[in-house]
Amino acid sequence: MLSIMELSFNPAATIDAALRQIISNSDLFNVGFDPEVRPADPRFGDYQANGVLRYAKKNGKNPRELAQAILKAAEESELFDASLVELSLAGPGFINFKCTHAYLGKWLNQFASIDEYQKGAGRLNAGRKIVIDYPSANTAKQAHIGHLRPMVIGEAIARLLDFCGSDTVRDNHIGDWGTNFGTLIMQIKREGVNLDHLNEDPLAQLDQLYKDGSNLEKQEPLLRDQSRAELLKLQEGDPQNTALWEKIVAISKNAFQKLFQQMGVQVDISLGESFYRDRVERVYRELTDAEIAELSEGALVVWHDEVKKFARNNERPYPFNIRKKDGASNYASTDLATILYRVEHFKAEEIVYLTDARQQDHFQQLFLTTQKWFRACDYPLPVMRHVWWGTILGKDKKPFKTKSGESIKLQALLDEARERALAVVAKKNPDLPEKEQQAIASSVGIGALKYADLASNRTQDYVFDWDRMLSFEGNTAPYLLYAVARINSIFRKTGIDPDARMECVGLLETEAELTLARKLMGLSSALDLTLADLRPHFLCTYLFELAGAYSSFYNADKVMVEDPSIRERRLLLCARTRNTLITGLQLLGIEPLERM
Ligand code: ARG
Repeated sequence: MLSIMELSFNPAATIDAALRQIISNSDLFNVGFDPEVRPADPRFGDYQANGVLRYAKKNGKNPRELAQAILKAAEESELFDASLVELSLAGPGFINFKCTHAYLGKWLNQFASIDEYQKGAGRLNAGRKIVIDYPSANTAKQAHIGHLRPMVIGEAIARLLDFCGSDTVRDNHIGDWGTNFGTLIMQIKREGVNLDHLNEDPLAQLDQLYKDGSNLEKQEPLLRDQSRAELLKLQEGDPQNTALWEKIVAISKNAFQKLFQQMGVQVDISLGESFYRDRVERVYRELTDAEIAELSEGALVVWHDEVKKFARNNERPYPFNIRKKDGASNYASTDLATILYRVEHFKAEEIVYLTDARQQDHFQQLFLTTQKWFRACDYPLPVMRHVWWGTILGKDKKPFKTKSGESIKLQALLDEARERALAVVAKKNPDLPEKEQQAIASSVGIGALKYADLASNRTQDYVFDWDRMLSFEGNTAPYLLYAVARINSIFRKTGIDPDARMECVGLLETEAELTLARKLMGLSSALDLTLADLRPHFLCTYLFELAGAYSSFYNADKVMVEDPSIRERRLLLCARTRNTLITGLQLLGIEPLERM
């Protein structure tokens, strides 16, 4: 039997389950009641059930009376032990749950290590098979600032899903089969370039070759035909062009691997668009047979009449084009084939795509098409989610660019982050040996870059600001990293291992202790919120608030006091804060430092 006494990493979920059980045993409700247990306004409690209101309204009942009845049933049942949780009625029909000091102490004792957190959080997504499609850049082009967000947000989401028990596959769906290869091969041949002897930045050189080639095409239309012919040869498997293509892909992968390493990005597989070149035929066939796709001016297209902008009769018709007039596959057909592969091969129950906001229409059409196709063929339909984001802006509120108006190379951005962080670290800690300063600066710089990208709501644009992201004040990586380092120094000074088993013997007492304890218990709700719509900024806000609660506690209550039971209890709060901050930072892809 479930009991609120059974300590749960996520008390909200336990309360929710207990309420459902109580309700199922009574005749107060018909089916369809969701207690909607959420974190409460801390003045009233830790959690609040809001669902009575909605239910009462829908069923024409008095919400306060209903809430009163649930409250009574809950108090009478053995599921809610009054020594652990206090229930009260509020407003027009809310039920508040306040965990007692005893419960908080027990919770802190139980969830003592990062492993315990993970075990607790692992129930959220237990074993769910999820393919995450990121960072999925295109080959033969240098990475620029536009590649920052897919790497940063993608990695954070992958780590979050892993932590919450999903069985994830991180699939880098690289664009390695585009029309740009025609131009590139044309230009390589024209210039007689040997791909085995490029300079020390081969990807930059390829990038330049492509740019030169496409500029020339504009001047000499004949070259365009040549490029097209090279592309066709590649698509038909010509050995020379295939060998060139393989080298180009390898050079790109190599260059990206270097960036992944610096960014802490860990992909499992890279099945590029080329992997699906022979798998698109089945898509054409099945969609045509099911009368979902049709020919339109030579191309194969899918209309979604139920959505105005994709409908046939729209004034600017905008179908989902899945095969070009010349018979070639495209981004859309490849993506359709990819979904089928992910479902058949990986048994994906869910697929999460990460790209910028500009691809929203593509994914909307892709998902609609897949739903119709899978229904027609009786394939298991995965949950499909497009996680998109806004633009990184400069101080002038326009997309962030170099002074001369070019896109900023990602490597240059990472180098600058480290350099600027070094200046900050050297100023704060002039006595550290330079080597250590550099190591710290590297983590702080890259961490700051990532955190600034994660801390704002992803669907909004944000202004790129070095000074703000590297500041030790405010919702920044340096602030959080410093909070961890400060706790570390307490443990270093006292010679106590922060990972040693600690027990909270007496009850939590002071206001600051209690506030911090409640904040620590809030990690699971923060994870819930973050996962619901895959928005990492919720976790950032939580960590920032936790660091604030810790700081208030530290200023108000001396840790190393004479009384051993008080000292133990406060050291335990320090250790748990440290665990939680470390867990959160690592989930965001930021490696905490021992000292700063
Ligand atoms: N390569 C694409 C781009 O750079 C992103 C791919 C996203 N993934 C996908 N399955 N469509 O825009």
